[in-house]
Amino acid sequence: MNTRNTIILAAGKGTRMKSKLYKVLHQVCGKAMVDHVLTQVEKTQMDQIVTVVGYGADDVKATLGDRTAYALQAKQMGTGHAVLQAEPLLKDEAGTTLIVSGDTPLFTAQTFEDLFAYHEAKHAAATVLTSVAPDPTGYGRIVRNNIGIVEKIVEQKDASSEEQEIHEINTGVYVFDNQKLFAALHQTSNDNAQGEYYLTDVIEILKQQGDIVAAYQMADFDESMGVNDRVALANATKIMRNRINRQHMRDGVTLIDPDTTYIDAGVKIGSDTIIEGGVVLKGSTVIGEDCYIGAHSEIRNSTLADHVTVTSSLLEDSTMASGSDIGPNSHLRPESHIGPKVHLGNFVEVKKATIGEGTKVGHLTYVGNAKLGKHINVGCGVIFVNYDGQHKHETVVGDDAFIGSNSNLIAPLNVADHSFVAAGSTITDDLKQYDMAIARQRQTNKPNYYQKLPYRGED
Ligand code: UD1
Ligand code: CA
Repeated sequence: MNTRNTIILAAGKGTRMKSKLYKVLHQVCGKAMVDHVLTQVEKTQMDQIVTVVGYGADDVKATLGDRTAYALQAKQMGTGHAVLQAEPLLKDEAGTTLIVSGDTPLFTAQTFEDLFAYHEAKHAAATVLTSVAPDPTGYGRIVRNNIGIVEKIVEQKDASSEEQEIHEINTGVYVFDNQKLFAALHQTSNDNAQGEYYLTDVIEILKQQGDIVAAYQMADFDESMGVNDRVALANATKIMRNRINRQHMRDGVTLIDPDTTYIDAGVKIGSDTIIEGGVVLKGSTVIGEDCYIGAHSEIRNSTLADHVTVTSSLLEDSTMASGSDIGPNSHLRPESHIGPKVHLGNFVEVKKATIGEGTKVGHLTYVGNAKLGKHINVGCGVIFVNYDGQHKHETVVGDDAFIGSNSNLIAPLNVADHSFVAAGSTITDDLKQYDMAIARQRQTNKPNYYQKLPYRGED
């Protein structure tokens, strides 16, 4: 049976990134480059996918999990040597093998399909995917003969000055007849400028033994971009961001200024939501329909239902139910769960708290380690005092309670439903239903005292 297989090369260190993080794990729009590659490969029907790992093998495996098989390249001796490490897993397969690098995050499944189709139509033993680079520096060059047939691929460092003028580059993506690939790989040598076993040499070897070698030139160079340093990483991110933003707009999301809107690959957004400029949406964030995300908001790994309004605020690992709003300048720290129609106003910080339907926390308030019921009014400047210096404690506030402005609720504390805390109180004892608690010094007025003071006001 003819099978379709893929080898993803991801063992390199990525010296040019100058990073502690292994190259293929650098993220483009919130997702590791190698994960982008695998995601597109998965959209193409494959019988087996093998990822070659080496540097950072455990981290790469942790990122990709069991979506792929793995081959270990213990020592990095070049791309040809890397592919050989997959030989034990794939050598018996009759069929076609796609090879792609873990550092080319922009390829789409459609391009892989087009490459397969071209390869099959040409009855080739190998087809290399090429593109025309405005600046080909660093890429392998496609050397064609005088009638346009591919002869070989020459690496930048091995290229003559004449070959360096060639703008058609090797994208690092190929399809091979599986068995011919491994047979040819055994014939490669490391007699070149980098002392490595080059996968690219297989093209010339197959050609010389009389096999058909084809080159499929794709139209869009951007899609083929390889990321070797941080400049390319930023360029790739820009292209990916543009792609993501256009998709959301096509799906019915209004982006006021897509050039300054930063949406990670994993984010989902419902239709008729409006997103202003300078907004950052990260990780696994999900936003419902008809939401409004005001300028300069950042939302990380949070879930917003429909009709939620966020104004210039930071949300982390939290949820907001339908019709709720927050901001400006407020902060949901992790594990905050905001109920329907809740209003969180200016300068409100919430951490590890649930807030029930219709409750209002309008201004300058810290809510930490708390459970708030429904329809509570929390005044201005309330502090949920949750930390005694060693431990965090919880405050529970029941439905329809009223917390007056400038109160401190010292946890652990239970404020029953339908109870009332007077403004300016520091509350240490529980309230029962219908209680009013007032905990502040009584006011003293001293008649005519003004005249005894040195202060004379504005004369
Ligand atoms: C490679 C190609 C070059 C092409 C370019 C496209 C070779 C010799 N050169 O160059 O023709 O234009 O990609 O982006 O193939 N890797 C391993 N083990 C190794 C070496 C590399 O797994 O021993 C992996 C890397 O992790 C990387 C990929 O192979 O994902 C490509 O290696 P890299 O060093 O980036 O090759 P380039 O110099 O970019
Ligand atoms: Ca590369």
